[in-house]
Amino acid sequence: MRNLLSIADLTNDEIEQIFELADSAPRLATDKTAAGQIMATLFYEPSTRTRLSFESAMHRLGGAVISCSDMKSSSAAKGESLADTAKVVSSYADVLVVRHYWDGAVQAMAENADVPVINAGDGRREHPTQTLCDLYTLRKEKGELRGLTVVVCGDLKNGRTIHSLVFALARFGANVVTLAANGMELPQYVIERLEREYGYSLAPVAADDLSEVVTETDALYLAPKQPHQLALFTQVDAAMQNRLNTMVSGLRYDAFYVTRKQKERMKEGTTGGSYPSIGPSFLKQSRFKETVVMHPLPRVDELSREVDKDWRGIYFKQAAYGVPVRMGLLKFLFDQRESKKPSAKKIAKWYQSPEPLGPQCPNANCVTVTETGSTRRRFELVSGSPSGALLLACVYCNHRFKVQFVGHTKSKRYCSYDMALSDTVGDWFKKKELAIFDSIKEAEELGYEPYKSGPQRTIMDQTEIQDAVREISQQILRDCEDVDRLLILGVKTKGSYIGQRIAGELEADRKRKFEVGEIEIYGSLEEIRRISVEEPNELPLNLKDREVILVDDVIYTGRTVKTALSIIFKAGRPRSVRLAVLIDRGHREVPVKPNYVGKHIPSSERERVRVKLREAEHDEKDKVVIYSMISPAETVV
Ligand code: CP
Repeated sequence: MRNLLSIADLTNDEIEQIFELADSAPRLATDKTAAGQIMATLFYEPSTRTRLSFESAMHRLGGAVISCSDMKSSSAAKGESLADTAKVVSSYADVLVVRHYWDGAVQAMAENADVPVINAGDGRREHPTQTLCDLYTLRKEKGELRGLTVVVCGDLKNGRTIHSLVFALARFGANVVTLAANGMELPQYVIERLEREYGYSLAPVAADDLSEVVTETDALYLAPKQPHQLALFTQVDAAMQNRLNTMVSGLRYDAFYVTRKQKERMKEGTTGGSYPSIGPSFLKQSRFKETVVMHPLPRVDELSREVDKDWRGIYFKQAAYGVPVRMGLLKFLFDQRESKKPSAKKIAKWYQSPEPLGPQCPNANCVTVTETGSTRRRFELVSGSPSGALLLACVYCNHRFKVQFVGHTKSKRYCSYDMALSDTVGDWFKKKELAIFDSIKEAEELGYEPYKSGPQRTIMDQTEIQDAVREISQQILRDCEDVDRLLILGVKTKGSYIGQRIAGELEADRKRKFEVGEIEIYGSLEEIRRISVEEPNELPLNLKDREVILVDDVIYTGRTVKTALSIIFKAGRPRSVRLAVLIDRGHREVPVKPNYVGKHIPSSERERVRVKLREAEHDEKDKVVIYSMISPAETVV
């Protein structure tokens, strides 16, 4: 039995097969291919196209449809779980089509259903059948997907159609240009996956290439195996600055894929700001004379009605293809029911905590958080992330987060995760002896004791840290060309605290406020956020033409900084980025040189440097300590 939860569940050949079935929709209708079959549509969120085109497709195939007109009038309103609903409805129908506002909800239903389940959109995650319609439309219009350049435009962060679409375009060898509204950029994990799995690289698009569409955001070009490298716009390193000159210009744009602002997935008060739109000026540009305009619809005001009258506006065709494509998909899934062929998605080895307490997905909209009874907390263990951290990726919502503490179930010891432990932890994972904890409290409640580390030596005390922060602040002011453009961005968590202290010094010196933000390297939701106690719901930080000071506590391999720079670059083109760190340990793996350093501590690879700040440690005074690592591997019996 095959489900369709993600576009990754289908191989390229299977997608082609579905398209062939869609091409033969009139014959499928004549043959009444689905006679005697029943489809249930369970839509917990509004829909016009997806729901009605699925229902139309099933009717045309000779099948029947059952539905709840409004899930608020179903037993969900009495508190029935997703698991129970899936179980019950699968005894009434042969296929379930589900849309839900929680990330991963459709997967939770599929795990409990006895018939195939199709994802008709889950939270911010995926909308794979929309992607099938998009690819089908593009192929019909442009002949082949390979080599096309598609500009995805608007809310690339919250738009679930976009995430499915860019992976699918990459799989078929198309190039992608991202043109995001400020604060709505394509998530970093999507970019990293495109780089890792499809060999895509990132380059900036020359500013005037798309100026008819947007003036306030910058475009990025993602293309397979091009000579372009990730171009980081920074003064942190001269080599990186030089790469900026490899801007891509004069591209042939085959399609613009416009999306609406997903206001329903945004916090109140954060929905304002400029937004890329397509209108009459786009139509007049000779550069776009062969560029088709697509939109998953519904539109709001990002797509002018002027475009409707032009042959290039193909979004109503795109919506109409929803019926034959979904007819093809239903036929494909019905034919697969007896097949033992697994879905295309590789089943990785999941991590599930062997202990009653264990990691929890931090995404508040994840189905594992909202509906614990219908789900099992499982994660993909992601080692080898660009920053060297060990990450967990939630199986349901794909949200990634950093592992803080690891424990060994046999020795009942724990320690904070360190890159040096990667082989040991991999070994524990294989033997199912790995415990992961979100906090020390959690580990100690389960009777785990800390691994011993070597003797600690304080290398900076409170006064020295304070002096270093003050000196860095003075240097920043001396180098700054325009204080109005200054933006302090700290890497979460300790870099962010130091950044706030630097901002405090700048404010005391200049008697004015400075903007401060925080970068989340590992998560998959809010990558850059403003730190403002008074007005937490202000608009996203604008990075364009800013003098950014990136702040972290310790620089070692440089990989964290590289990821942070990539996120900054994606969010807008600042005038410059300078790097401030409290401690520079040397040992760089990537060419990043900090501009401001509190203290240079050349240290051996076995040594660990920890910055302890009172904001993070609560009861401790500030200090920086150095100690040797005693590997847990050596103490495990
Ligand atoms: N494109 C799309 O999913 O539209 P609906 O929300 O109307 O189903």
